[in-house]
Amino acid sequence: MRVIIQPNYEKISKWTAAYIARRINNAKPTAKKPFVLGLPTGSSPIGTYQELARLCKARKVSFKNVVTFNMDEYVNIPKDHSESYHSFMWKNLFSHIDIPKQNVNILNGNAKDLVKECANYEAKIRKLGGIKLFLGGVGPDGHIAFNEPGSSLVSRTRVKTLTYDTILANSRFFDNDVTKVPKLALTVGVGTVTGSDEVILIVNGYKKAHALQKIVEDGVNHMWTASVLQLHPKSIIICDDEATAELKVATANYFKDIEARNLDPVAL
Ligand code: GLP
Repeated sequence: MRVIIQPNYEKISKWTAAYIARRINNAKPTAKKPFVLGLPTGSSPIGTYQELARLCKARKVSFKNVVTFNMDEYVNIPKDHSESYHSFMWKNLFSHIDIPKQNVNILNGNAKDLVKECANYEAKIRKLGGIKLFLGGVGPDGHIAFNEPGSSLVSRTRVKTLTYDTILANSRFFDNDVTKVPKLALTVGVGTVTGSDEVILIVNGYKKAHALQKIVEDGVNHMWTASVLQLHPKSIIICDDEATAELKVATANYFKDIEARNLDPVAL
């Protein structure tokens, strides 16, 4: 696992967008062999999305041959609800880049048969040869997508009940009213994320400091689902100084030092 520590959120966003753009460009995707990208919602990736939109407008990257799969979606809120993850993605990214509409995949939380919806999503990912790069964030309790504490570390796309902690954290988007936050979600599994060739998690701000410490310094544990990245052959955590507040000084210094001397052209 690489841990890349940046001074602030702006630097995280620029670094992550540049990395994704480079990966897409290096893959030279075509309509027949598209680049398959996994994407999150939440506040963490917003800066990256803005920077990707800027790069796309500047013709530094194109999403014409990129197929995306979003991590999750609430169950039972209208697709056009301002807080649905559909709305979030179109507002914050897809409307600003050149991606064809049919290349966008987001779970349908209003499907009649939610189990089938999840199975079809997994099948579509498989058919496209798997996800090349999965971008994610983490919840304050260390969850990835909506894989709440205790989720199976080999889980696949499925229906999940949200924990009270997550409902509370997300109530900021629903007039700070916990009763308005959906109680169920569809989410890719931990295994869906780790099944991708590469994973990048954005972890920023003091409120993620405890989770970062658990994910980086403690062992793999289903109570902190993002810790499973320790077992992934190619995972990156990109974080800011604030998020490192609970890491040992030696841990932060170690990762800063190794990255400062990283001359591996494949890693850059
Ligand atoms: C939700 C999403 C996660 C996201 C998390 C953190 O639970 N399902 O994918 O990582 O929120 O959100 P934020 O980036 O706003 O802190």
